[in-house]
Amino acid sequence: MMSNRKRETSKKEPRILVIHGPNLNLLGKREPKVYGKTSLSKINQLIEKEADRLGIQVTIAQSNHEGELVDLIGSAKGSYHGILINPAAYTHTSVALRDALAACGVPAVEVHLSNIYAREEFRQHSLTAPACVGQVSGFGEASYILGLQGLFRALKKR
Ligand code: DQA
Repeated sequence: MMSNRKRETSKKEPRILVIHGPNLNLLGKREPKVYGKTSLSKINQLIEKEADRLGIQVTIAQSNHEGELVDLIGSAKGSYHGILINPAAYTHTSVALRDALAACGVPAVEVHLSNIYAREEFRQHSLTAPACVGQVSGFGEASYILGLQGLFRALKKR
């Protein structure tokens, strides 16, 4: 089950699907020294504010389940112009998510709150980033804002 209901801003273009992966529903309480004290709901508000400023429509979803994330990515074609995704732990393990991103034909930007390259060795490799147009890692909640801006610029160039 999605632990967050989908949130949607008012109808505009481009339309961006924002996807939060596993355990990000726990932000604020989860390892605050690594991930900060800001809740997912607050991060979503910041994303929506930036989306409004840029004139983007965002739909935001979170799931702890790999198959649901694959389905979300797969359903993006035709409905969304871009994907902003924090695949969380699946970044390092999921060939299925990488394949879904590569197959969907919708440009994606990967974001991480922490700098995954400065952490444990198993986090220093992203399976999903090569299927994305770019990655932002290490700026806390601002990674989402920078990622949204980068995705917006990449879409404008298309
Ligand atoms: C994360 C980094 C991942 O390694 C970790 O599994 C997460 C969060 C980040 O945003 O820093 O759950 O994606």
